[in-house]
Amino acid sequence: MRLDYLTIFPDYLAPLQLSLPGKAVASGLLDVHVHDLRQWTHDRHRTVDDTPYGGGAGMVLKPEPFGEAFDDLFAGGGLEGATVVVTTPSGEPFTQELARELATRERLVFACGRYEGIDQRVLDHARTLIEVREVSIGDYVLNGGEVAALAITEAVVRLLPGFMGNAASLVEESHEGGLLEHPVYTKPASWRGHDVPPVLLSGDHGAIAAWRHEQAVRRTAERRPDLAHPSQVLDGVEVRLAQPADAPELFVLQRASWVSEQHDNPGLRVPALHETYDELVDWLARDHVLVARAGGRLVGAVRGSLADDGTTWHVGRLMVAPDLGGRGLGRRLLEAAEAAAPAGVAAYELFTGAGSARNQRIYKKAGYRHAGELEPGVVRMVKRAGRR
Ligand code: ADE
Repeated sequence: MRLDYLTIFPDYLAPLQLSLPGKAVASGLLDVHVHDLRQWTHDRHRTVDDTPYGGGAGMVLKPEPFGEAFDDLFAGGGLEGATVVVTTPSGEPFTQELARELATRERLVFACGRYEGIDQRVLDHARTLIEVREVSIGDYVLNGGEVAALAITEAVVRLLPGFMGNAASLVEESHEGGLLEHPVYTKPASWRGHDVPPVLLSGDHGAIAAWRHEQAVRRTAERRPDLAHPSQVLDGVEVRLAQPADAPELFVLQRASWVSEQHDNPGLRVPALHETYDELVDWLARDHVLVARAGGRLVGAVRGSLADDGTTWHVGRLMVAPDLGGRGLGRRLLEAAEAAAPAGVAAYELFTGAGSARNQRIYKKAGYRHAGELEPGVVRMVKRAGRR
């Protein structure tokens, strides 16, 4: 892969000769060219910047030096399979996925911004010739794009075939598969009172793989809930007793969750869609309410309360975020609500719309049977306590 860097601080890119990229240069896998942008200036002061049109603070990198640089760099062709990477805090986020994409290119030309940025026409012009990607390495502002170009380079070149000694380590690391990596340990097995998790010493490869996956999901949900895919989130779901502070989110989740019930039962007045916030706060304080959280997000809830007969445990307001349906979270909440019933309860009961075929199927699978109608259009279902 050929790598070109256009910068007004070539020394900033000296680390390219060190570390792993340095070895790849020596072995011929990488062909690295760092260019001082000032070589394409023609005035005595080698000027590369000027004040912004329209006013404002700071300076803007002029179009002419970049234009001439591109003319020279692409004079002998080489546009095929090449991408210009412009490092800028206003670019698209740099991710492992983008690293993988850039690793497929034959040539990358980094245009390192400084000051307020590069005259927009440089990018517009380059785009008429070649693919241009404006890329940011994070939501913070550096003094210039050189450090970003180094970071992008390192993430990209280590994906090149033949670059890493152990290709398997590429598969297991953070961000591959959309998860952060699990914690790792080495010898000794016990150090300053901290022990390596016993499963890692067990020799049971299946158990080790399961433990690592669970840890990766947990870490991702805790540290980077934005990364956790809904299907993985369920592994890290925490079901616990609701707190008063859950009320606002619960109110929103409830409104969202019962829309489909209203759709399936057009003639019914669905209480969950009409009750006030204060009414919700009341039952939250009074009943046994469990909430499910994944990665900090409220994704489900259920409420249990003792019926007037004193022996029936009423399960109500079983709700799951609409985008997480069909993954077993409703069933898990239902079981948790049943398990919370006080001693002496003989039966569980719940109500659902007569038109809610899907809900009724789920409840039947969980052991509930029809027990008449509470009122027209509302079905009562019961299950003997202690049954699974
Ligand atoms: N130049 C200055 N800040 C930057 C950032 N966050 N990413 C890429 N280039 C930059």
